[in-house]
Amino acid sequence: MADSPYLRQRIRDEVLEHQWFAVAQSTDITDTPRQVTVLGEDVVLWRSGDDLHAFRDLCIHRGAALSLGTVQDGCIVCPYHGWRYDSTGHCVAIPAQPPDMGIPTKAKTDAYACRERYGLVWVSLGTPQTDVPTFTEGDDPDFYTLACGPYELNAEAPRVIENFLDVSHLMWVHEGLLGDTGHAEIAEYHVHQRGAQLVSDTIPIYQPDPDGRGRVVTNNYVYEVLTPMAARFRKTDPDTAEVFSMLMLTTPVRRQQTLAYALLSRNYDFDTPDQVFRDFQNKLLEQDRAVVESQRPEALPLDLQAELHLKSDRMAISYRRYLAEMGVKVGVA
Ligand code: FES
Ligand code: FE
Repeated sequence: MADSPYLRQRIRDEVLEHQWFAVAQSTDITDTPRQVTVLGEDVVLWRSGDDLHAFRDLCIHRGAALSLGTVQDGCIVCPYHGWRYDSTGHCVAIPAQPPDMGIPTKAKTDAYACRERYGLVWVSLGTPQTDVPTFTEGDDPDFYTLACGPYELNAEAPRVIENFLDVSHLMWVHEGLLGDTGHAEIAEYHVHQRGAQLVSDTIPIYQPDPDGRGRVVTNNYVYEVLTPMAARFRKTDPDTAEVFSMLMLTTPVRRQQTLAYALLSRNYDFDTPDQVFRDFQNKLLEQDRAVVESQRPEALPLDLQAELHLKSDRMAISYRRYLAEMGVKVGVA
């Protein structure tokens, strides 16, 4: 059945509701309103001067999408009958009634928490208890950080994150680039809890062409789970001390639909054009997409008896346990 407005329902998840999600690149949000979707909820992003706003994308009058409207004098104006909503989400003008008539107190739309960090726009539908995930390299002047995405995947977000954390797929899905099937064995490693996050031991990986420059490196990988839907790796070339770090950010959009952004940071080769690294990342993503969108069941099984696990899957096992302990309900079974 085609996507119908009747199916556009909020996906309830008491944990994810209060998380921050990266939903756009900062440069994509202007004074032309733009719709994004987080946990099934349509959200309109708009700017007025330096101020960024995220509202429920719904006019209380007749339910039109505010994202089809315009921004005027610090307000967002509904496209249907011109109701104007100020920066707090309250309606402040109804053109069809005399100006001296009061505005009903119910005439408002929800304003969501939003902020900008690392070149991305972040939204939370609830009350976030912490800031957006910290990406150390994003604040480090010795690193250059590049935002990639959006990537729209027909898969549940936990499947996408687990793929990102999966060390033994590098030799197969990204053969000739991030791994080599002749070096498929994974060294022993463990995963540790660090506060509310997970971190792996260092894992050496032989990589024929780890960043598109065609240079063979045995990189030392460290993986981290920062939040249920955000993970990072940092890989270091022990011979040159070159570091490449990547933060993978996913947003559950609707059932089996995920929006992803990636932040790539490196402490070398600042002169190479962004497009070179972006093209390489896009190629890797398409390789992952083919596998991740094929996975069944679509939802990540948290019952560890449901799929077979090896020692080399310790990161994935820990991630599944972590999701279960956190009480995440979206994209898992
Ligand atoms: Fe928005 Fe009527 S639906 S003004
Ligand atoms: Fe991959």
